[in-house]
Amino acid sequence: MLYSTETSQAVVAARMPCGVKVTGGKRYAWCACGHSKKQAQLSTLPSEPVIASKKPLKVDLVGGKRYSWCTCGHSKKQPFCDGAHKTKAEGLVPLRFVPEQDSTAWLCGCKYTNNPPYCDGTHKQDFIKSAQIPEQTNS
Ligand code: FES
Ligand code: FES
Repeated sequence: MLYSTETSQAVVAARMPCGVKVTGGKRYAWCACGHSKKQAQLSTLPSEPVIASKKPLKVDLVGGKRYSWCTCGHSKKQPFCDGAHKTKAEGLVPLRFVPEQDSTAWLCGCKYTNNPPYCDGTHKQDFIKSAQIPEQTNS
């Protein structure tokens, strides 16, 4: 049996994927509860994004054009990348996307959407609503 029938709550260990090197044939145990201390010892963890905006940003997109959505939150050209991730967010890179047709879209400003680059409502959760934003990066 993989899971216990007890209902203890898993916790969020990190809001970004953990990059690890694995060896073929070696057996690994992935932490399902989020409490393992070994997660914090991973030296390859990328930076956490900062919240650029607690609301989505409405943009007019041109079909066929390539966009770079800022994943790190440091760009001064939100919601798009201005290259700031290179010095302020090691391990994070912009998300490149090409819309199929001209459209108006609400792109995520909080950087914690589960459907990047689009807002999925995650900004309504308490960890975003209660977060301190020292410097608003929207222009
Ligand atoms: S602004 Fe990030 S999910 Fe809505
Ligand atoms: S500035 Fe944020 S991903 Fe480039």
